[in-house]
Amino acid sequence: MTAEWSPDGWRAKPILQTPEYPDAKALENAEDRLSGYPPLVFAGEARRLSAQLAGVAEGKAFLLQGGDCAESFAEFHPDNIRDTFRVLLQMAVVLTFGGGRPVVKVGRLAGQFAKPRSADTEIIGGVELPSYRGDMINGMGFSAAERAPDPERMVQAYNQSAATLNLLRAFAQGGYADLNQVHSWNLDFVASGTPAAKYADLADRIDETLSFMAACGLTSETTAQIRETDFYTSHEALLLGYEQAMTRVDSTTGDWYDTSAHMLWAGDRTRQADGAHIEFMRGIGNPLGIKAGPTLPADDLLRLIDILNPDNIPGRITVISRMGADQVAEKLPTLVQAVEREGRKIVWCCDPMHGNTVKAGNGYKTRPFESVLNEVRGFFAVHKAEGTHAGGIHVELTGQNVTECTGGAQDVTEENLADRYHTHCDPRLNASQSLELAFLVAEALKSERDQQNGSGKQAAAE
Ligand code: PEP
Ligand code: CO
Repeated sequence: MTAEWSPDGWRAKPILQTPEYPDAKALENAEDRLSGYPPLVFAGEARRLSAQLAGVAEGKAFLLQGGDCAESFAEFHPDNIRDTFRVLLQMAVVLTFGGGRPVVKVGRLAGQFAKPRSADTEIIGGVELPSYRGDMINGMGFSAAERAPDPERMVQAYNQSAATLNLLRAFAQGGYADLNQVHSWNLDFVASGTPAAKYADLADRIDETLSFMAACGLTSETTAQIRETDFYTSHEALLLGYEQAMTRVDSTTGDWYDTSAHMLWAGDRTRQADGAHIEFMRGIGNPLGIKAGPTLPADDLLRLIDILNPDNIPGRITVISRMGADQVAEKLPTLVQAVEREGRKIVWCCDPMHGNTVKAGNGYKTRPFESVLNEVRGFFAVHKAEGTHAGGIHVELTGQNVTECTGGAQDVTEENLADRYHTHCDPRLNASQSLELAFLVAEALKSERDQQNGSGKQAAAE
């Protein structure tokens, strides 16, 4: 991309959230081996995602990004991958129908193994150990051995990512993603007598549409778009030694791409304009995300956008705002206005998870579903007021029936949290909370569309 960039240039910059490996030789050895392993994704796929995200930036499509907060070695199982993929597809069908626009599907999957932490160490019973930083760095167990960063974990994360991606590709192209099948799962979700029956109306309309399409000859047999889907992967570009090892020159264009995932993002804690993470990201051709929390001033956001996307190419940058339900109405408009004023072409995406984490009375970290919904509602309200496109949502979710976030149609209570609290980091929406969120966003998208159609008709009449 830029002449004076190299994949290891970040090493000369100040860096936050980086583990201290006890054995530098072992680290170098693992990184060397990884740099010779096959790429997980191809540059052409990353470019295809950029092109689809350009459609989102122009208001012609919607982005659904979601998956685990942190993937783990312990929960590595085909059923978990399948169930997360399935709930994302179910959400996408509902959102496509509501918005009347294609939905770009990006998993937080097949590489989301490294976590930023609020403190470098953790103290339990007077013992101080390094914080857990995700399975690709150290172990969750509270012992010196588990918490010591181990470079072989990067290799294990690579292998798990490769196997996960292989299964995802098979699911996406091999018949599992058939629209009729995905829709039939949604019908089960809204079946009468279930807490989600109130969404049956929308599901029924999808049903009618599919019957109509079949009557016109558009079926899984005749139409690839009904039978299969595009599915992309993403994770936070946090552990830069790993990301550097996966970065290769694309033989078609001569540009550098990080082949560990299609899309990479900078976390809210590591997005310093002069820091290592932004230095690394500016040189790779993949589409990029920037997390934007309430402490990010508009000028800093513009600076980041210009460093990462000097040519203002639509689809390259997705700003993922995570303000919290209480702050979105106050903090987001300033950012949106600044970006609009300066004519920067970006995707606006809402992460309603990371600004809404609270501690329940019994000590569990949780997120009230109502706060998640309120942040999404606030996000749509800001974009409606500013006349910009509410481009997507970024959600921590799982297809499993966990009890990590309170509320939702099944009404998970603080007392229920202990029942199935399995996350390795932040609390995730379970399958039914995720679908409920999708139905609510679909309604918001429909109203955005009605508004656009209304003003379009009005303009045509003038
Ligand atoms: C995350 O997405 O898991 C995360 C840590 O988010 P943020 O950087 O926005 O806090
Ligand atoms: Co998280």
